[in-house]
Amino acid sequence: MSTPLQAATSQVVEEFSLSTETLRAIAAEFVVEAQRGLRLPGQSMPMLPSYVTSVPTGEEKGVFLAVDLGGTNLRVCSVHLDGNGKFKIVASKSPLTKKLMTGTAEGLFSFIAEQVRDFLAKHIDERFAEEQPHAGSTGHYFKLGFTFSFPVVQTGINSGTLLRWTKGFDIPDAIGPDVCELLQEQLDKLKLPVHVAALVNDTVGTLLTRAYTSAGNGSTIAGIILGTGTNCAYVEDRAAVTKLGDPTPADRDIMIINIEWGSFNNNNTVLTRTPIDDAVDAETPNKGVHIFEKRVSGMFLGEIIRLLLLDLSAKGLIFCQPSHELLTPWTLDTSFLSAVESDTSVDLSTIESTVSSSLGLPTTLAERESIQQLVKIIGKRSAYLAAAIIVGLLTQTKALDKYPTVDIGMDGSVFQLYPGYASMIRDGLRILLGKDASRVTIGLAEDGSGVGAALCALVA
Ligand code: BGC
Repeated sequence: MSTPLQAATSQVVEEFSLSTETLRAIAAEFVVEAQRGLRLPGQSMPMLPSYVTSVPTGEEKGVFLAVDLGGTNLRVCSVHLDGNGKFKIVASKSPLTKKLMTGTAEGLFSFIAEQVRDFLAKHIDERFAEEQPHAGSTGHYFKLGFTFSFPVVQTGINSGTLLRWTKGFDIPDAIGPDVCELLQEQLDKLKLPVHVAALVNDTVGTLLTRAYTSAGNGSTIAGIILGTGTNCAYVEDRAAVTKLGDPTPADRDIMIINIEWGSFNNNNTVLTRTPIDDAVDAETPNKGVHIFEKRVSGMFLGEIIRLLLLDLSAKGLIFCQPSHELLTPWTLDTSFLSAVESDTSVDLSTIESTVSSSLGLPTTLAERESIQQLVKIIGKRSAYLAAAIIVGLLTQTKALDKYPTVDIGMDGSVFQLYPGYASMIRDGLRILLGKDASRVTIGLAEDGSGVGAALCALVA
């Protein structure tokens, strides 16, 4: 006889499990939505042209500045590309406060400019200044690649307007103006010798970095972020991007597309949906969109488990009294799930201390067993959804027909830190691709945002 808690846990596990048919349906629907987005502007999964039209060979050289805005921190870096797939990076990091993330465009962009000023004061020596090409009458010395990891409709390599904010950012007056101009204006106010030369999504940066560091073996087709948010950029035939019109002789053969797959299947026709998913969505500033991201990425996994535990507690099945922490939205982050997932002790003592320190609650062994089962299914669902959408991408690109092995660059805290995440993605790939799964290599493209921005600034 199972206890009421065990029964309720099994029910959640069932609701969160994905059948092979669902995974196949997701892969197939991805192709439909991708093709629609390449054909028509304004689609919910927007397939945004990045205006990056070549992939690095590994031989690129130079020194560039990069600003990386898009998750929990702002990073300013200088990147030395040394050729031969090698680079050196010096970075400084500052946390982004809620006030910056939900204030005004001026507040955010002036903060970024100040961090660039501080970085230049601290790290930039004369050698760097000499290596930078002088941009003539503008008087700008440093070329900066701006990694801005949000959905941006680009009109060129260093211009674009924000479609909408994601990942908890909400700054209404930044939607409309050109985001490169917003940054340039604030850099100019501080009289900094910096020119915003390229605007780049973190996934584009990840793709370029992976291609650069794998010394241009030619088969890197995509860059994926599985971190605070999730997204992918890939190499598409320019001719397939019909919403840009027919290619002219001046166009290159390829265009890297920022898919913004966080917004895959916003209407839930193939994604399964539980009441908890709806509750998470209702708490976000971007309700009803980026639905796929809200099932998969790091920002949301902690909130999913908090709401599940709160629900069980309200039904009297777990924790006799909910704590203040359990009642507070966004208290738990993905490190909570990582700690719970990895506990292999007989008495689940890591879970005991993790729940006690994060939620201020004591637990029984039976409660800890339930919490671990819930966490495991949330993590597995995330990884299997990622695997299914990757299979959709492989179908869209026909990459397995073109190359003996297909290479994908990945970065992000979930991919890097969640225990067993990479092997769960591989399990998902095996379910859908069988033997061919072994022809897909997935490798970490660390520092993708910084190095990729530098590579973009170089070609800009
Ligand atoms: C953004 C993407 C970004 C991804 C990963 C998403 O929320 O919309 O532009 O690439 O997060 O950072």
